[in-house]
Amino acid sequence: MTGLINALDQFGWATMDGCLNENEGLRLSLECENACLNGQFRKAGVGRGASLAVNEAIRRDHVLWLVPGEASQEQQLYLDKLEGLRLALNQRFFLGLFEFEGHYAIYPEGAFYKAHLDRHAGTRERVMTVILYLNSNWQPGDGGELKLWTNNGDKTGAFVLIEPRMGTLVCFLAGDFWHEVLPAHKKRMSITGWFRERSAQTG
Ligand code: OGA
Ligand code: MN
Repeated sequence: MTGLINALDQFGWATMDGCLNENEGLRLSLECENACLNGQFRKAGVGRGASLAVNEAIRRDHVLWLVPGEASQEQQLYLDKLEGLRLALNQRFFLGLFEFEGHYAIYPEGAFYKAHLDRHAGTRERVMTVILYLNSNWQPGDGGELKLWTNNGDKTGAFVLIEPRMGTLVCFLAGDFWHEVLPAHKKRMSITGWFRERSAQTG
């Protein structure tokens, strides 16, 4: 975790392999697949509030929001790790991160998410994006890499491609780093979420 925090300090983004072990990760991926089979997922929207709408030209993933206070055992294990990360981030950067909101995401074959920032226009609540990938046996050629432009605020220059392998965690400053999900050639699963600041309205 120290390595992750140091990299965030230096670059504003970081990845960590093996955030969960294979067994813990598999349990989450099974829960994700089962919830999908049970029809609990919805097409993801773009925007927020009244302007939230499905737009398949921009994103084609399906999501299931995690419900605060109703975490399954397998979710809780991951949430406990995130809590450790949240506290460490606050201690190091005085970010005032207050809570986590997140969802399972499934990208069916062919799905993508075009270049975007994660902070909604005119809001500050989403400070840090945190994504855990849940694809065991992911192979080069399966697609669905996260393309992350590594110059703060820039979506033209240098970028990295992050493979969505089981147990890989990626973090970046939600308002600063442009990113996109390249077309998945195979079903692609993750838990995507955000550490938030307390919002001005509800604070
Ligand atoms: C998102 C997103 C990236 C990924 O859901 O906002 O950018 O790699 N996800 O799943
Ligand atoms: Mn995003």
